[in-house]
Amino acid sequence: MKNALILAISCLAIFTNCEQPKDKEIAKTYTEESHSYAQPNDAVITHLDLNIDVNFETQIISGTATYDIINNGASEIILDSKFLTIKEATADGEKTTFSLGDMDKSLGQPLTIAIKESTKKIAITYETTSKTEALQWLNAQQTADKTNPFLFTQGQAILTRTWIPIQDSPQIRITYDATVKVPSNLMAVMSAENPKVKTKDGVYHFKMVQPIPAYLIALAIGDIEYKAISNRTGVYAEKSMIEKVHTEFSDMEKMVLAAENLYGDYDWEQFDVIVLPPSFPFGGMENPRLTFATPTVIAGDKSLTSLVAHELAHSWSGNLVTNATWNDFWLNEGFTVYFEMRIMEALYGKERANMLALIGRQDLEEELEALSDSPNDTKLKLDLKGRNPDDGMNSIAYDKGYLFLRTLEEKVGREKMDAFLKSYFKKNAFSTTNTEDFIIYLNTNLLENNNISFNTKEWIYEPGVPENAAIIKSDAFSNAEGVLDTFMKTNNIDASVTTDWTTLQWVHFIRNISEDITVAQLQKLDDTFNFTGSTNSYISMVWFEQSILNNYHGNNVDHKISEFLNTVGRRWYVTTLFTAFKKADRLDEAAAIYKTARPNYHSVTANTIDVLLDYKE
Ligand code: BES
Ligand code: ZN
Repeated sequence: MKNALILAISCLAIFTNCEQPKDKEIAKTYTEESHSYAQPNDAVITHLDLNIDVNFETQIISGTATYDIINNGASEIILDSKFLTIKEATADGEKTTFSLGDMDKSLGQPLTIAIKESTKKIAITYETTSKTEALQWLNAQQTADKTNPFLFTQGQAILTRTWIPIQDSPQIRITYDATVKVPSNLMAVMSAENPKVKTKDGVYHFKMVQPIPAYLIALAIGDIEYKAISNRTGVYAEKSMIEKVHTEFSDMEKMVLAAENLYGDYDWEQFDVIVLPPSFPFGGMENPRLTFATPTVIAGDKSLTSLVAHELAHSWSGNLVTNATWNDFWLNEGFTVYFEMRIMEALYGKERANMLALIGRQDLEEELEALSDSPNDTKLKLDLKGRNPDDGMNSIAYDKGYLFLRTLEEKVGREKMDAFLKSYFKKNAFSTTNTEDFIIYLNTNLLENNNISFNTKEWIYEPGVPENAAIIKSDAFSNAEGVLDTFMKTNNIDASVTTDWTTLQWVHFIRNISEDITVAQLQKLDDTFNFTGSTNSYISMVWFEQSILNNYHGNNVDHKISEFLNTVGRRWYVTTLFTAFKKADRLDEAAAIYKTARPNYHSVTANTIDVLLDYKE
């Protein structure tokens, strides 16, 4: 009651037309969401107390998830659950009935638990199964040190429900505590306040005091160490990697400072990165306080660290201000790419940021081409009802989202753009927003008040790229294009003009090799620049792609490709290479590699490649 009163007074005082809720929790209304069975307007979770035992022998996580709930008068609460064995449910400590509904292949099953009007806490005792999609259990051979097993989770978009029964909607935020028991030679870390050394008994206690959506709950367990970079940044990695990782990411504190300087305080206290084994299916995953990252960005020269800037940027766009539904995914990723470029520019200058932006521009053209038969999927606002949200997670959200914001910035000027974004993050902090609310906010706070007109709706609700898209230029890339052009015309290449080239220039050079290139020319490039032997994963990946597409077999490249695909599980890399095999009509070779590689892949990568190669178990 006191809260309601204070709220009512503050509403009056600032003359906004805010509602006057009975109490602040009931105030929130959730919008219709097609990727969760939860009915949060009836009964919603607010806090999780997770108590689990992690068994590497049986590869099962078992334990109890206890939730604080708010019941708005319902007789049941619905959670999401997929491939879990539910053993028992209680409501305020007393056994209660529960039921699992029909199984949907993406959504899983609704778990309905009987509650009373007065129920404050529910507890579910459960176990994971071998079908779990979030977890990847790795044997020692699949790690860097090769001596101990490893486990990590991947929650986004709707996989958390495969290791914790939960209301798995980005609109629903919870705080959490966890007690995790692991073998005593391993350390456990979560998207929470983390240990810096191992405990003797393998029991770890976690606290996450900032409310987050279910997709950001994460756990990693392995023989890992911590090394600080500053008092609030640092890295976790296996012993054989820790020094390299620490050196590679030594600019992390500078990145956080640059980000804070742009869009306001970092609200999560700690920013650490854990480098996982190579099967991790993403470049990075923005788990709060502890980004999960692929080891493929440890290049030795900091050339691929924009990934850290990207995941850090999610601490504002995504984690602080979260997309309300997966149809609004571009609000997470498009804003994050824009913010990533701004951090990179602040640290390393405009030229590097523009090279990254141009790579994204080319990715976008390729994606538009690939989606030419489904133009609706090239809109920023998606309609993924009845589909797996993964289907909408392509470069449109990232690169068209970025281009929209960059074009907007060029129209309104950087100063106004930055003030606007800062206020947008502040207004929606620890909350969710959707595309429609964003448009209203944009009109009110940036466009109308400055008398600026902009084709926002065309950008968001129409397919393709509008005509007013910003033109991005990079001298370094023009230079690389010139060298490639001369080579294609004369067959000569002067290696001395490339000595100061950066990784992104090489990537651009290789990606832009035309289909007219001959095998002899590819051989000449490889002999001059040793692309097949590159130790930079990005250069390797684009070179392997060209080798596959153009049937180049020199310098034992086929062996390298096979080795790469058998160790690296990063979905973007793996998909690019298998797609190249498919385009080149080399499906038999692809199938032979996939047969041995598939067991090393996390489910998100395996599911994508299964569809691409029409693979059946
Ligand atoms: N949040 C994404 C990863 C993701 C997207 C997981 C969709 C599940 C579903 C992450 O921030 C990301 O965008 N990673 C990129 C990094 C890149 C754009 C720098 C990746 O993994 O390649
Ligand atoms: Zn991202």
